[in-house]
Amino acid sequence: MENSVLANSRYDRMQYKYCGKSGLMLPRISLGLWHNFGDVDDFTVATDMIKCAFDNGITHFDLANNYGPTPGSAERNFGKILKDNFAGYRDEMIISSKAGHLMWEGPYGDGSSRKSIMASIDQSLRRTGLEYFDIFYSHRYDGVTPVEETMQALIDIVKQGKALYVGLSKYPPEKAKFAYEMLKRNGVPCLINQDKYSMFVRKVEDETLGLASEYGVGFIAFSPLAQGLLTNKYLHGIPENSRAAKSSGFLKVEQVTNDKINVARLLNEIAARRGQTLAQMALAWVLKDERVTSVIVGASSVKQLEDNIHTINNLSFTFDELQVIENVLLQVNS
Ligand SMILES: NC(=O)c1ccc[n+]([C@@H]2O[C@H](COP(=O)([O-])OP(=O)(O)OC[C@H]3O[C@@H](n4cnc5c(N)ncnc54)[C@H](OP(=O)(O)O)[C@@H]3O)[C@@H](O)[C@H]2O)c1
Repeated sequence: MENSVLANSRYDRMQYKYCGKSGLMLPRISLGLWHNFGDVDDFTVATDMIKCAFDNGITHFDLANNYGPTPGSAERNFGKILKDNFAGYRDEMIISSKAGHLMWEGPYGDGSSRKSIMASIDQSLRRTGLEYFDIFYSHRYDGVTPVEETMQALIDIVKQGKALYVGLSKYPPEKAKFAYEMLKRNGVPCLINQDKYSMFVRKVEDETLGLASEYGVGFIAFSPLAQGLLTNKYLHGIPENSRAAKSSGFLKVEQVTNDKINVARLLNEIAARRGQTLAQMALAWVLKDERVTSVIVGASSVKQLEDNIHTINNLSFTFDELQVIENVLLQVNS
């Protein structure tokens, strides 16, 4: 990590945006710890990526109870990295975690009940060694638990000082609307909505983005590189050590389709004409929407992370570029 005397310069390397109608700014590029920070991963690389992120003005780190593998190990590793390298920097960081997916055995280790959420945040605080999370999410609407019950748990978490803000992830629009209204009525307005958004996955354009904006809620995109498909990584086959090749990766070989790779090749040519890598253009494309606060990127090396951080050097598109991209994307989104 940089010497604190140089501290200002790292913030010059990033851009920040207010999250919805809140007073909290987030970096346009945030770092997610879903993959590459677990027990199965290289701890030195993980440490170097967190240092690289922070040195380049990435203040926001996104976790969840189940990130690993093994589940919980990403939180544990992040806690260790913080303790060993970032003592004294807590007030310069926005750290989020989530509860809602399968985490431990039995009827209370999964889903969005008050019981699961309350137990889970305590476990996450213990694993990371943090006193509080900046943002705590309901990781999903589980299809059964009344949204009132889940939201009341989030409200109480803030009132108990265990989190400063709350967010929703992957909520169907009508459930999100109900949640935004209840949270606001109870004095704990929803800070942020986290959902999947990339050139390849655009469902949030239908309702989710508009609804968040209407309620003054920020939006943060996960998997903005479609887990690596929107980079130059798979243009010549599936490399060893890539997410698609790893047994612990969530990207399956059958998702690396010829259609997607052909489109990625065309996009790669457009990116080159803009003087960008495909990864940079894909991130800039998500960030161009005013309603998007930040993108959460994943990375398996410092080199990838640096590539992604340089996105902020060119976030603008001409009308013609957007048209050409739109025509190319018709081949995968139709
Ligand atoms: N709320 C939710 O339910 C949810 C769900 C999923 C994710 N998330 C959050 O979103 C974060 C990001 O998700 P994600 O990891 O799927 O994001 P992503 O940015 O779409 O994909 C990251 C992967 O793409 C490859 N990559 C990244 N930068 C690259 C570059 N410059 N050049 C070549 N390849 C590059 C790497 O794959 P290789 O490993 O193959 O090198 C990397 O692991 C997660 O960590 C998590 O915090 C949330």
